[in-house]
Amino acid sequence: MAECRIDVETLVRDVVAEAIEGQARPPCIEIGRLPPATGDPRLLRQVWANLISNAIKYSSKRPLPRIEVGGTEQPHASEYFVRDNGVGFNMEYAHKLFGVFQRLHRADEFRGTGVGLAIVQRVVARHGGTVSAHGAVDSGAEFSFRLPRGAAHA
Ligand SMILES: Nc1ncnc2c1ncn2[C@@H]1O[C@H](COP(=O)(O)OP(=O)(O)OP(=O)(O)O)[C@@H](O)[C@H]1O
Ligand SMILES: [Mg+2]
Repeated sequence: MAECRIDVETLVRDVVAEAIEGQARPPCIEIGRLPPATGDPRLLRQVWANLISNAIKYSSKRPLPRIEVGGTEQPHASEYFVRDNGVGFNMEYAHKLFGVFQRLHRADEFRGTGVGLAIVQRVVARHGGTVSAHGAVDSGAEFSFRLPRGAAHA
């Protein structure tokens, strides 16, 4: 696993641009301050791509989809969140979201295979970090993760 200093703001702008490319009515995506991270650029890009594509997908049926991305710098870690005003999920099943092939929405409602968040969880854990999810049915969702700065864990 590579260990580089990553300009997360640039990375996220890039991922967002790619995610909304060609969409006739792209959602409003507000990108706040995003502190730098240490880690594998290819793997961390995958984390952002999965979280941002979920935020876009699960808010896509709103009249005004809105996504907010931001972060804070802690003494020894960087923390990030991706928030959307989409369909949300039942917190009772939050622990299932990061499992492989676990989905809380039917495939005829939203397409997917249920691997995106499992990848997020594995990549973040490999960097010595943690992930969490908050949401409520019909009230949007927030996914956050924390990456220690400095040595990544092999
Ligand atoms: N932003 C979100 N809002 C509401 N529910 C979400 C959100 N992100 C994920 N989920 C729920 O968590 C489940 C797992 O997410 P995950 O990204 O692993 O799978 P997926 O999006 O269904 O498929 P894939 O990412 O493999 O295409 C989803 O099926 C959905 O029920
Ligand atoms: Mg997904």
